[in-house]
Amino acid sequence: MQPTSLTRRLAASPLAPVAAFPLRFATVARHNASVLRRSGSWLVRSRENACFTYDLTPVNREHLAWFTATITGRPVGELRGYLDEVESDVALRAHMREVLAAGPRRRTCDHLVRYARRAAAYAVVRALRPEHVVEAGAHRGITSCLIAAALLRNGHGRLTAVDFDPQSGELIQNGPYATVIDRVVGDSVAALGSAEVHERGIDLLVLDTYVDGRHETAELTAALPALGERAVVLSTTSHFLGSLAEWSEHHHRAFLHFREDPAEHWHPGEGYGASFPGASPGPFTRGSTDAATPGRPG
Ligand SMILES: C[S@@+](CC[C@H](N)C(=O)[O-])C[C@H]1O[C@@H](n2cnc3c(N)ncnc32)[C@H](O)[C@@H]1O
Repeated sequence: MQPTSLTRRLAASPLAPVAAFPLRFATVARHNASVLRRSGSWLVRSRENACFTYDLTPVNREHLAWFTATITGRPVGELRGYLDEVESDVALRAHMREVLAAGPRRRTCDHLVRYARRAAAYAVVRALRPEHVVEAGAHRGITSCLIAAALLRNGHGRLTAVDFDPQSGELIQNGPYATVIDRVVGDSVAALGSAEVHERGIDLLVLDTYVDGRHETAELTAALPALGERAVVLSTTSHFLGSLAEWSEHHHRAFLHFREDPAEHWHPGEGYGASFPGASPGPFTRGSTDAATPGRPG
């Protein structure tokens, strides 16, 4: 709607904040009412009390495909295919449902697991075909299962899943996914700095202990001798910690963050920070999109 001369004059006057208040109030009330509606429905339908699971909006899922394509250097269509592949993996979903429904935490978790950002871990493993993946912070083992499912489809590679909670990893103790996983019950910094991990090397490191910036930096420092130039690091804390971005800059790596937009859920979403071997694109060259010859004289 075009502003009239009266609204223009009002907007420039000292009364502007008072006049705009009802509209501003209505805008924020609409948003909060929608969060309240979703919260109420979740309180009735879900049993989760931590590590929440949800779906992503369709456009956010498309952004996840682009995020994983960028950090792996593979075509977005290929990554979209891997995201579809894991969503339609009936055996994987059935495994999670059966184990969670029978486990000791069955009354405090949802048995139908929604992967959201975690599907990226699957897609990255399918695209990069790593020999050794390490996950710090396994909890029930949702991401561990996704990584293991991708390794099994690749036909090679193993996952080391670390958690200091002896009760953790209920999804990865038995069944097909456990056959490619080495569980470590212990501190993540100690595990990442161990001689065994350094000897094997790490192609993909997933940091999900969710502690603080100092702990994440300690994990990265411990893992550094095992990380080759092509290694990729994912972290679930980059939406509130700057540690992976700082570490990436210090080690001349690229950094990118994907932020979740949960569909029909009260949770604001988390995300994945990624540290990966990015090439510097060089200066802009007018009239040329040829990435192979950056800075070529025009
Ligand atoms: C956010 S949960 C991990 C979620 C999991 N990756 C998933 O896919 O659902 C964090 C886990 O990190 C573990 N943890 C926290 N600090 C740790 C540490 N210093 N060493 C090892 N595990 C740790 C906790 O026991 C917890 O199970």
